Amino acid sequence: MSTPDTAGKRRGSFGFAGTLASASFGVAAMAAVAGFTPDAATSHPPVSNPHLRESQDTVSFAEQILPIFQNRCAKCHGAEDENGEVRTEVSLSLLEYERVMVGSEFGTVIEAGDPDGSFLVDMITAGDMPPEGEGDNVPEEEIALIRTWIEQGALNN
Ligand code: HEC
Repeated sequence: MSTPDTAGKRRGSFGFAGTLASASFGVAAMAAVAGFTPDAATSHPPVSNPHLRESQDTVSFAEQILPIFQNRCAKCHGAEDENGEVRTEVSLSLLEYERVMVGSEFGTVIEAGDPDGSFLVDMITAGDMPPEGEGDNVPEEEIALIRTWIEQGALNN
């Protein structure tokens, strides 16, 4: 019964997030560039090599995603403090797959298959996490990796 309320409250506290997103500009720029490369990439279809594609394309949670969370998020979302207590902000721990998928007391932050519907992606894309003055914004390459991992089903791999 309280679900819509708490969701609204959570989103409300980050109400300015959307104005900072520049995804649509990026897409438009890429389309423009593509229009000016008539024959560079179009003469041959990509070679089909399933092994190569798999090793390049499948994002590993353990090897690629977890290290990002450990480096940038752990000091507030799961690491131990000086007394050996596990620190969790609004109970969100990002140090174990199961906890990442459970989310916080306000609900899930990852929607498998749907990066645009994933609150965690909103937060890092808008630069709201890590909080201002508490660490660099997550670089675009890392955001892209997280998005791809979610698109591929947010696997525990
Ligand atoms: C300096 C501490 C700190 C760091 C570092 C940090 N966070 Fe947070 N995070 C918070 C706090 C505090 C909240 C609670 C929301 C609020 O009131 O600001 C929060 C909330 C969140 C939420 C929303 C949880 C919910 O359900 O409302 C997400 C998602 C999140 N953080 C993801 C991240 C990610 C991903 C990183 C690393 C890239 C990160 N945070 C780094 C302190 C931190």
